[in-house]
Amino acid sequence: MISELRKSSISNPILVLKEWIDEARKSEIQPNPNTMSISTVDSMGCPNSRMVLCKEINEDLGYLIFYTNYNSKKSKEIESQNNCSVLFHWDPLGYQVRIRGKLIKSPNHESDNYFSTRKVGSQLSAWASNQSDHIKNRESLDNQFQEIMKRFDIQDADLGSTEIKLPRPDFWGGYRIWVKEIELWLNQNDRFHDRLSFKRDLIETSSGFDSKNDWVVKRLQP
Ligand SMILES: Cc1cc2nc3c(=O)[nH]c(=O)nc-3n(C[C@H](O)[C@H](O)[C@H](O)COP(=O)(O)O)c2cc1C
Repeated sequence: MISELRKSSISNPILVLKEWIDEARKSEIQPNPNTMSISTVDSMGCPNSRMVLCKEINEDLGYLIFYTNYNSKKSKEIESQNNCSVLFHWDPLGYQVRIRGKLIKSPNHESDNYFSTRKVGSQLSAWASNQSDHIKNRESLDNQFQEIMKRFDIQDADLGSTEIKLPRPDFWGGYRIWVKEIELWLNQNDRFHDRLSFKRDLIETSSGFDSKNDWVVKRLQP
């Protein structure tokens, strides 16, 4: 556990995020140390938050990846407005990371690669759920899963397998969160905490975004 945040010793704050997730994983303080809250806004500008799993971090280019259903409520919000706010917190370590950034769909090959690493039960569940749509009851949902199992000829005993590879549904895949702002927060005594804010510009390109690790860093009062 670190005891202070030193401005001069951090050249890449996204690397610090990666280190903190690793530390939380090694400390076994929670089953999913890579859990983050992501907030998007609807067409009326009203915010909406939910937890997702951060599956990859590219610290050189500066983006995070999570996976979801492209027809879900969050994806519809992202289509109309691609700004987001992300929050990590590991209470026993006293760390918080706050991010603001831009979202863009991951390239198909990246989503295909990740989908193929999932247990077949999770692959089926991506196929079987129209995420965020209404459904009559749990039984109907279970029926949808059974129908998908039949369609791909999967048996109950296969559900935990990572050997069986199904095609990825085109309505399911990743989003890259390109980090524009990131704040590292470290708990200190008497609620007199350490806060470092890092900002940079994102450059829009034909395929998404680009940026450099040219962070402007400022210390904030607690
Ligand atoms: C710990 C945790 C991890 C989750 N991870 C994901 C995830 O990686 N992707 C996802 O689509 N939903 C995930 N969910 C479910 C979401 O919080 C949410 O219910 C779902 O994505 C639908 O959100 P939406 O209706 O705003 O689109 C997770 C929930 C929890 C509690």
